[in-house]
Amino acid sequence: MAARWIDPERIESAIAALAGHGAHGETGVARLVYSPEWVAAQDQVAAWMAEAGLRVERDAVGNIWAYLDGRDREAAMVVTGSHVDSQNPGGRFDGALGVIAGIMALSELRERFGQPERTLAAVSLVEEEASRFPTANFWGSRAIIGRIAAEEPKRLRGYDGVTMAEAMRDAGLDAARIPEAKREDIGTFVELHIEQGPFLERENFPVGVVEAITGYRQYLVTLEGAANHAGTTPMDMRRDPMAGAAEIIGGVVDTAHRMGRPCVTTVGRVNVSPNERAVIPRQVAFTVDARSPLPEQRETLLARHEALIQEVAERRDLRLSLRVDSDRGPVRCDPETVAVIAAAAEAAGVPAMTMTSGAVHDAMQMAEIARIAMIFVRSRSGISHSPDEFTAAEDAAAGIEVLARALHTLAYRP
Ligand code: GLV
Ligand code: MN
Ligand code: MN
Repeated sequence: MAARWIDPERIESAIAALAGHGAHGETGVARLVYSPEWVAAQDQVAAWMAEAGLRVERDAVGNIWAYLDGRDREAAMVVTGSHVDSQNPGGRFDGALGVIAGIMALSELRERFGQPERTLAAVSLVEEEASRFPTANFWGSRAIIGRIAAEEPKRLRGYDGVTMAEAMRDAGLDAARIPEAKREDIGTFVELHIEQGPFLERENFPVGVVEAITGYRQYLVTLEGAANHAGTTPMDMRRDPMAGAAEIIGGVVDTAHRMGRPCVTTVGRVNVSPNERAVIPRQVAFTVDARSPLPEQRETLLARHEALIQEVAERRDLRLSLRVDSDRGPVRCDPETVAVIAAAAEAAGVPAMTMTSGAVHDAMQMAEIARIAMIFVRSRSGISHSPDEFTAAEDAAAGIEVLARALHTLAYRP
């Protein structure tokens, strides 16, 4: 096999350097948006962009852009990138690999081919994970597409109690200027990302070409009953939100299981109050994350979940609040860009399979204003959103070469 365009060792050391900002244990990362660790990671990214000979710009929300300017300055840009914020804690590769890939791909293209016809940009986006602000929902890419409502910076509050506007100020940014981050000059957005699932490994492909991204809805379910003594309150006299939560949690997970692939439902966060051994709690709040890439299956799944939640709350005489925190239908990738990526994989001699993304991505937001596509790179054991996340540098190098070749096709043709 011919040598890859990008040396795997360089990728490995970039991943390790970025993981030093917000390191969590041996292999994890906890890098929440606008935290000092996140600021340091973005500064590192900006430094790499400048070293690669790219023109660097920071926008009003904190996205960092690196441009390889094209000859035709009127033509819409071809953009690649991802995010450097992480789950709390997450792994070293989710988002970070896509940011590193974008810089390395542009740097390589500049050295091999010089100036493109259309401007190429690599972007390090602000906040994809919602790990600090549960309803931020792609803050950076939403700013780019102009979908952040004026009151959001003051309304959104993180798990730490800090508002988005305050967090931005801590990172040296002014929330009042968010509208300036909006863009209308992006023609195509290609995001490279780790697969975060088991299929590439199982089918023995280093790289995946994404054809569609799952749809999802995330709820916060709050059940309120009556707190009371665990020993003296007869079972038939209780309004126990824990019993209701247990029934709903078991029910929604079971519903997704029975409906079968590709739909999935997860309850990942539970808050109990009071949280005591001998007290029937007053309130239980939990998240429900439900997904399917099939529009009709998603609708059925959501309707069943909502019906169950209502029914259990009513029957158990619990006060229910059902808040929708995120909601997005499935997104199809642009077929022409998908074909360009498939051809790039072939030209690079990289075996690639087409697939669907079960994770949600910034590319979904970009789809509102641009043609989008994604390149996946194999994840070890399909593990992600965990410090155990791992992708081999050789697979990453294969994916980045596919990205660079695809960007070449998209940006260097007159
Ligand atoms: C993205 O991080 C997701 O939750 O799919
Ligand atoms: Mn990600
Ligand atoms: Mn993620």
